[in-house]
Amino acid sequence: CGIVGYVGGQSALDVVIAGLKRLEYRGYDSAGVAVLADGGLAAAKKAGKLVNLEKELVSRPLPAGSTGIGHTRWATHGGPTDANAHPHLDNAGRVAVVHNGIIENFAALRAELAERGHALRSETDTEVVAHLLAECHSATGDLAEAMRQVCRRLEGAFTLVAVDADEPDVVVGARRNSPLVVGVGEGEAFLASDVAAFIDHTRSAIELGQDQVVEVRRDAVTVTDFEGAPAEVRAYHVDWDASAAEKGGYDYFMLKEIAEQPRAVADTLLGRIDAAGSLTLDEIRIPATELREADKVVVVACGTAYHAGLIAKYAVEHWARIPCEVELASEFRYRDPILDHRTLVIAVSQSGETMDTLMALRHAREQGARVLAVCNTNGSTIPRESDAVLYTHAGPEVAVASTKAFLTQLVACYLLALYLAQVRGAKWGDEVRAVIRDLAGIAEEVERVLETMEPVRELARSLAAKNTVLFLGRHVGYPVALEGALKLKELAYMHAEGFAAGELKHGPIALIEPGVPVVVVVPSPRGRSLLHDKIVSNIQEIRARGALTIVIAEEGDESVVPYADHLVRVPATPVLLQPMVSTVPLQVFACELATARGNEVDQPRNLAKSVTVE
Ligand code: G6P
Repeated sequence: CGIVGYVGGQSALDVVIAGLKRLEYRGYDSAGVAVLADGGLAAAKKAGKLVNLEKELVSRPLPAGSTGIGHTRWATHGGPTDANAHPHLDNAGRVAVVHNGIIENFAALRAELAERGHALRSETDTEVVAHLLAECHSATGDLAEAMRQVCRRLEGAFTLVAVDADEPDVVVGARRNSPLVVGVGEGEAFLASDVAAFIDHTRSAIELGQDQVVEVRRDAVTVTDFEGAPAEVRAYHVDWDASAAEKGGYDYFMLKEIAEQPRAVADTLLGRIDAAGSLTLDEIRIPATELREADKVVVVACGTAYHAGLIAKYAVEHWARIPCEVELASEFRYRDPILDHRTLVIAVSQSGETMDTLMALRHAREQGARVLAVCNTNGSTIPRESDAVLYTHAGPEVAVASTKAFLTQLVACYLLALYLAQVRGAKWGDEVRAVIRDLAGIAEEVERVLETMEPVRELARSLAAKNTVLFLGRHVGYPVALEGALKLKELAYMHAEGFAAGELKHGPIALIEPGVPVVVVVPSPRGRSLLHDKIVSNIQEIRARGALTIVIAEEGDESVVPYADHLVRVPATPVLLQPMVSTVPLQVFACELATARGNEVDQPRNLAKSVTVE
């Protein structure tokens, strides 16, 4: 969910709505606002996207006020209805609260409140907080203190932001696990799930830590722990380009972000390879001795970031010769993984806030493992709780389906694998030297792919009426196939599955019937030619059974031509780097198919960009 709070000289409603627009990627099941005005509190909330709320505010305007809060929801407890939308109010309508996360003991609290005569009106876990805050506030007369008392009673993960009509110049926030940042302006202050909500107003931010409560006024920010003791915070400057968070002439953020990939890749490489072809990754503060002693690498991540992790495995094992496992973060800690101080865990996350990944890394650290984050969001929770971080420099990614962040995650993973090889003294053969040289030029290759995408768009439009698309790959092409299928599910709402091409004959081949489109990611014929030849056989097998073959193959690879109904060319790269170029057509394909099917590209149904619940 996305949260915004504001106190200052501007119209709180305008600031909050503009902030919510920037946070809508975090969830769009419903939206709501509350403002303090004329000694009272006024609220509006609506199921569906923010525009529904905006329409409601036109037909039923709220009074003008300079303190307010807002929320855009990704539903957990209770369906996406008006009643379940945030903010939630106490019975007197004096306190309003918005929440991101899950309050695990809400049933017990709800029963307790009902016994004391409170009438709860929604199915949410959040509403109990409004009622508890109202009780504590009438006892203490201090909203921040009331928040501390309430937080001490809550179990689970939460960010809360609240206002009370009795304290018209105050917004209070609390944070456990889910993100919350403070924006400090001239005579105004902001609270938000991320800085995108306030970068039009201020670049000064304060990051809240775990289990902290913050009280913001126009010219004061006070942070304490849940017991009331003053807390240490980190202030920082936000250097994001505001225009980077706008669509910049494209119809969708996703199109813009696909187009930004060459730049994102180049930025992520910037300053990390020196003229002599060595890697300078000073930010990896884990001592080289520890990296040398590591006997295992474990990558944890979710969604698209997990696919980057799958590719990292090939790179780490091949170049650095360390065993590498990759695991879905949501599965990791529940199977009691074997970890110790010699395990290096790599947590890959665009947002740095994905709860499953955060919980996996905490588990790893508790077991003594070293954790290195690969992350795109400065100051977010995952890098903060890791031993070191290698930032990707993709810039803000807004579209829910990840594109430029994925390519930069690949770059970071390659750099890490090469760095591990460097510090561990693995043999720097000609292959590694060539890879580093090619990595330095890879942004240009991505640019070249983007220039040739019109036939892919045309093909996508012609397939808009299909029900199923299958994806096949081998070696690093296998995770690419998985990512291609994920993109299509997310965006086109089609049945799409990725398979290791070698597994085809062990089951999936039964799915092939005349006309089923099958995308095949063909590895480079150079180097591992056996691998290449095997997949050419696989293409023949499916074509013989009537599949419509869409073949992604390197320029100059003529062996696939006779079997390709559609051929998509990508530049020749070293084998391990091929996902950098072969993923791009699959992104374009999914985006165009979604458009052709009339779907919303940037905000696919049921999804959220940053999933801050487990
Ligand atoms: C959500 C998004 C995916 C993303 C995943 C992991 O499910 O919809 O696009 O890959 O979270 O996000 P992260 O921020 O940890 O990379």
